[in-house]
Amino acid sequence: MSQVLLQQDQLKQKVAQAAVEYMLHNLAPGSVVGVGTGSTVNFFIDAMANHKARWREAVSSSEASTARLQAHGFSVLSLNDVAALPIYVDGADEITPEGHMTKGGGAALTREKIIASVAQTFVCIADESKKVEHIGQFPIPIEVIPMARESVIRHVMRLFTSARIVSRKNADGSFFSTDNHCEILDISGLKVTDAVVTERAINQIPGVVTVGIFAQRGANILLVGGAQGVQTQYF
Ligand code: 5RP
Repeated sequence: MSQVLLQQDQLKQKVAQAAVEYMLHNLAPGSVVGVGTGSTVNFFIDAMANHKARWREAVSSSEASTARLQAHGFSVLSLNDVAALPIYVDGADEITPEGHMTKGGGAALTREKIIASVAQTFVCIADESKKVEHIGQFPIPIEVIPMARESVIRHVMRLFTSARIVSRKNADGSFFSTDNHCEILDISGLKVTDAVVTERAINQIPGVVTVGIFAQRGANILLVGGAQGVQTQYF
């Protein structure tokens, strides 16, 4: 592993630990924990496993996180059985000074957006490479119903003439399939000046399940890891 990736992993580990410390001060024992997806969240799940006497139950935004939580002995509940969720902890591919995020690099955007919509507090954990002024440098994922792939591409191209769109594929060239049996389109070349408007516009295209812009419901708290340690930002 390169030195840069190693350092980035150390930052991810630090913010994951900071999220657990935040929970120790702000989350009642016995609460159900909302758990996101990705490499930063994997460190968070591992750190949370040291406190299983305090929190034993979680809702999860992906099959991958569910498997990791269960391997540590957590019970993973259906969101349908959870009326309230005080905290949701998840990573991001990009986060702006307003707390708007791009998410879905790990393809879990739809379940992430659903859980985030139920949670009282969205705690975003990220290393400082994720901080941006405007979202859109990272390709924005859209989860689509497979039969709508080409029509969604045409719609997006009509709305945003500068857009470049690729279908996410597996190593063997087949279309990537999400946990919801849908496909992912990754859009680059967008100049997103109003993230809320762009999120709404893409969400309205028939066949779009979710766009990975999290602006209407952004983060409430950012724990960001950098050379100076972990900083906390409130939105
Ligand atoms: C998954 C996500 C992740 O939170 C995002 O991709 C960040 O991942 P990582 O922590 O691995 O950098 O949205 O769908």
